[in-house]
Amino acid sequence: MTKLLFVCLGNICRSPTAEGVMAALVKRAGKSKEIHCDSAGTGGWHEGEHADARMHNHAHRRGYELTSRSRPLRASDFAEFDLILTMDERNFRDVKSRIPQTPHHTQVRRMTDFCREHFEQEVPDPYYGGDQGFEQVLDLLEDACSGLLDHLEGRYDPGSPKQN
Ligand code: 4NP
Repeated sequence: MTKLLFVCLGNICRSPTAEGVMAALVKRAGKSKEIHCDSAGTGGWHEGEHADARMHNHAHRRGYELTSRSRPLRASDFAEFDLILTMDERNFRDVKSRIPQTPHHTQVRRMTDFCREHFEQEVPDPYYGGDQGFEQVLDLLEDACSGLLDHLEGRYDPGSPKQN
């Protein structure tokens, strides 16, 4: 079993969408028993909430169900998950700064490392913007999740992570 944790700031827009898109791809590939998806936020302000209604609606139009509830990133996540995928540079640095001193095997990578059709280096925070921002989140995450699944199945090598 490979365990994936998608992380953004609030865990109500980008990371629940990454979780939902990836879970749909994994299910379509018949790998739900082998690849587990979860998501969390570096901030805990929205704990217990469903995905943002705007994000939910945009994702729903593309056939994705966002079912997770917001939860903050926990120290135990570094022991539990194989790969933590962050959405922007701030998330990446926040997550890296919380890696515990105790032994862990988690790898932290930028979600956009797995994009093959887009060259953006971040999945931008859509919270204070309009419809276009939510569509961009979906465009980037569909590309990245497809690359990530192919990577996990040995069909795609995104290369080494950029320097931290
Ligand atoms: P997310 O978006 O990190 O993609 O879930 C945000 C959600 C909420 C806030 C910021 C970003 N906020 O400031 O409450």
